[in-house]
Amino acid sequence: MPWKTLALALAVAAALGVTAVAIAAGDEPYREHHPQARIDPTKGVEGDIGFSDTLPFWRTEEAIERNAKWIGDASQQWKLNGKFMDLDRIDLHPGHLAVDEGKAMVATLAKRNPAFLACLINGGAELKDQAAGYPKYDAGLDRIITVESHIEHCAKSVLNETIHQGSAPNTKIAVYFKSLSTGTPIKVAIRDRKVMEAYRRGEALFYRKTGQLNFACASCHVPNSIMGHKLRGETPTTPFADAAHYPTYRTTVGALESLQERFARCHGQMRTVQLKPGDPAYVDLEVFMTVLSNGYPVSLPSAR
Ligand code: HEC
Repeated sequence: MPWKTLALALAVAAALGVTAVAIAAGDEPYREHHPQARIDPTKGVEGDIGFSDTLPFWRTEEAIERNAKWIGDASQQWKLNGKFMDLDRIDLHPGHLAVDEGKAMVATLAKRNPAFLACLINGGAELKDQAAGYPKYDAGLDRIITVESHIEHCAKSVLNETIHQGSAPNTKIAVYFKSLSTGTPIKVAIRDRKVMEAYRRGEALFYRKTGQLNFACASCHVPNSIMGHKLRGETPTTPFADAAHYPTYRTTVGALESLQERFARCHGQMRTVQLKPGDPAYVDLEVFMTVLSNGYPVSLPSAR
């Protein structure tokens, strides 16, 4: 509300004896929020300690091995945060094949114009380990870029080809690109002001209730919520380290799924508007969730 209008509103409110707060807040539609869990972004994945406290069960190979007895036990399995389904721990699946397909696609596109590869590498020495630093703020584009939006941008700007985020070719290239960072700890630059602003916006969205069921993401993904309890055959898990294994292969439908497509699916479960990959709200949520994966190794290919 512009200052003049605000001053006028306050004057009218004072005259009518109405509280200024009610008038000032009147611009925004009324929203309910899930109580905030106190997450410290500087802790990265370690923030799960004191949150779901499941981290010790899936933090290392040895821990996953030690707790493998829980696999298939509905009341316990969620504590493994799905991590037993990453890399080569389960049989060969199309997620593994996507790495090779993505690699072949990058080679073909780079053959048409080597500047495509240079654009993907984005100032670094090679593709390897680059993905661990995404999402990040790109000063040239003046926006936060994700691996998927960057692939779309390079294809368009260098080859004038459309490879939309959320499309199968984009996701396959993303699986390949990210698999080249497997094992490297995620390091989203939280000291970058633009990144932190996106984090805070994403965090606010995470707690904001919406849709026919008036659910927030937090209604299912924080302690003392549905987290850990069965919901139509699935059990919501901690949001820590989720971003580390996306895009993933979804066994139930037999297709790859990017992180932002997963947001859209959760939005569908919440009976609210499903946004498209690349929507600024999903970029903010991706920043929020990837900061919650900081310090945890990129883990592709994966299946869920
Ligand atoms: C109605 C409950 C519910 C709500 C609300 C909900 N989710 Fe989910 N979500 C689930 C379930 C169930 C799963 C599958 C089990 C799991 O992996 O956590 C899931 C999975 C996920 C995953 C993938 C986890 C993985 O390991 O692959 C992400 C990421 C996610 N949700 C993010 C969100 C975000 C962001 C929101 C808000 C926009 C949200 N969810 C809202 C129930 C919900």
